[in-house]
Amino acid sequence: MPKKLFIETLGCQMNVRDSEHMIAELNAKEPYELTTDSTEADLIIINTCSVRERPVHKLFSELGLFNKKKKEGAKIGVAGCTASHLGKDIIKRAPYVNFVLGARNVSKIAEVVEKDKSVEIDINYDESDFAFKDFRSSPYKAFINISIGCDKSCTFCIVPKTRGDEISIPAELIVNEVKKSVANGAKEVFLLGQNVNNYGRRFSGEHDKVNFTELLRMVSKVDGLERVRFTSPHPLHMDDEFIEEFATNDKICKSMHVPLQSGSTEILKEMKRGYTQEWFLNRIEKLRAMSPEVSISTDIIVGFPGESDADFEESMKVAKAVKFEQMFSFKYSPRPHTEAAEYTNVIDSEVASERLLRLQTFQDGVVDEVMRVQVGKTHEVYFELLRSDGFISGRSDNNFLVKVEGSEELLGEIRKVRITDAARMSLTGELLA
Ligand code: SAH
Ligand code: F3S
Repeated sequence: MPKKLFIETLGCQMNVRDSEHMIAELNAKEPYELTTDSTEADLIIINTCSVRERPVHKLFSELGLFNKKKKEGAKIGVAGCTASHLGKDIIKRAPYVNFVLGARNVSKIAEVVEKDKSVEIDINYDESDFAFKDFRSSPYKAFINISIGCDKSCTFCIVPKTRGDEISIPAELIVNEVKKSVANGAKEVFLLGQNVNNYGRRFSGEHDKVNFTELLRMVSKVDGLERVRFTSPHPLHMDDEFIEEFATNDKICKSMHVPLQSGSTEILKEMKRGYTQEWFLNRIEKLRAMSPEVSISTDIIVGFPGESDADFEESMKVAKAVKFEQMFSFKYSPRPHTEAAEYTNVIDSEVASERLLRLQTFQDGVVDEVMRVQVGKTHEVYFELLRSDGFISGRSDNNFLVKVEGSEELLGEIRKVRITDAARMSLTGELLA
């Protein structure tokens, strides 16, 4: 009987990929069967996020529950960014935890499960040349890391402290991963990094200098690959060459996550984002002009220290000007070891909540309109999920969730769909020939 593994993944797509890496490394040593029931697992792993504060509190109550109901002899491990950030304190606070494994150390999973109470959280550890074993949670698309860590120092963000300095993964390794994924049936790859368009600044060994635009060209030449996605680009590094490649390369899906953070140039300066409102709007204007079908998503933080009513209005102004197809908005949450956590001009929590509500209410209206105007349009949809209600769903090139009536022969197929109905989260359509 293979051992059973329960793994819960919180946070971003990098974590999703890190969980796949851990599963692959564990399996290479001894086979594990995945389970969604923690009470029957021999190994329980929580792959954590520490970008905002709430999940950290949740972690300990969740760990307590897992421990209470675990199978006898089962091990519990905490991995990811909260592991990097809290380290051995996790075992102090929850002594039944068997190991702590930082976001930058996931390649060591098979070692740490063997050693009780081990804590591996070195953020200088270099996994950029490490040949991870293979495990993919979806046969249809492959998440592929192109860099680890982040070299920026946005004053609100804990990520550089949990994932370390940015190191790019050699282009030849990435292209090999893409080829392997395509050979295994994936038509789509998702290139991942905290700051993808900063790719190629630093490698750990001697490697050809390749920038992100060149990497996109190399990847999209792989035979059999039909779709390339990536996340996240940094607005500062969106040069003309990159936008032109994005717009003109047919393999690149026309959706982009462009994290604004704030619309106020003053606040952007305090956040150390390196761009102004004008630069951001100029880049979006070029993107929309060159790629009219593009859907743009963003992240916005409200209530950053010192954000005045007028600063917040600047975020509203950008939201109104751009009409993002999707927006993730958050109340600022002070994080340990970040510069902004030391700022004393904090914003009253209720004021921040009111601002968030205003922004989200405005955005809901934008999304309703964005979805409504899709009716009658034709999208190319890559079908990935068979649902229990007789529908099958997938993503359009520009990232809308689309469902049609259909059965499993559509799985893994890219087909044209005419949209017949729209809801807030998804579109319904009918297959065209
Ligand atoms: N690399 C990405 C961001 C990674 S963190 C970038 O270039 O922006 C993911 C998102 O979490 C960020 O875009 C930000 O909007 C949000 N976030 C990060 N730190 C935060 C904090 N302290 N409070 C609230 N939101 C935060
Ligand atoms: Fe964080 Fe800024 Fe890097 S948001 S992940 S420090 S680009």
